[in-house]
Amino acid sequence: NDAAGNLERVVLSGPKGSSVEIHVYGATVTSWKSQGHERLFVSKQAKLDGTKAIRGGIPLVFPQFGPGPLPQHGFARTRPWSFVGASEHGEGISATFELHDNEETRASAWPFKFILSYTVDVTATTLSTIIKYENTDTQEFDFTSLMHTYLRVPDIVHTTVTGLESTIFADKVKGISAQESRAEITVAANEDRVYENVPGIVGVRCAGETVSIRRFNFKDIVLWNPWAEKAREMADFGDDEYTQMICVEAGTVASKISLRPGQTVSCGQLLTVEKDAN
Ligand code: BG6
Repeated sequence: NDAAGNLERVVLSGPKGSSVEIHVYGATVTSWKSQGHERLFVSKQAKLDGTKAIRGGIPLVFPQFGPGPLPQHGFARTRPWSFVGASEHGEGISATFELHDNEETRASAWPFKFILSYTVDVTATTLSTIIKYENTDTQEFDFTSLMHTYLRVPDIVHTTVTGLESTIFADKVKGISAQESRAEITVAANEDRVYENVPGIVGVRCAGETVSIRRFNFKDIVLWNPWAEKAREMADFGDDEYTQMICVEAGTVASKISLRPGQTVSCGQLLTVEKDAN
């Protein structure tokens, strides 16, 4: 932390005014600017002093999604990661961060040895975030993991989510499972759904622009908005901020990823800003 108590962060400036900011705490991406606009939502009430997972941006969920033996969403989002380095390439710039097991994680309910290597890459129109998970233990382990992306939207009421039609979802608010019938989903209440085995590209459209989400090796999509009442209950979220955000979270959470000793797997997402043709 610096003298003012703010957390250490890395800022990358890409082409055409694009940029990305990553807090070393949780390796949380806290800003992505593309084509002159901020694309990620971070609450004005987010804790940025390392006392709580950052409310907004892209917190990394690992090795446990949701509640369970570990704290909610696991430990990766509340640990300091190491900044390995940054490098420019033809289209943009990327930075890599690492998280290794330590005494604390080995003493947790998930006691394995591992290395996570996380690369954030920005170009004029894209942000890609990729994690390589490596089992450095002598036994097999499994985990769930997700990129808890808080997208900034001009107005939730005029936001639609596409690409989820026909998939099965578990609705955590209603406690039911069902098949999605809508090609274009709008959110108008507290939504907390896990869409399982989503086949293709998911889009979030508002005000003539779409942010498309392409995944690789991540099976599921979580859709979350706390809406008014739950927003009021959250200390690190403004009462009216639910109108400016939607969480569309790429991960594997309905099933587990398993790795044998020495194995690695890379999973990630590519976010692209696309203007509507008209
Ligand atoms: C979502 C979960 O991914 O994250 C929700 O599906 C949860 O159930 C939300 O409320 C926020 O979690 P947290 O721990 O950051 O408040």
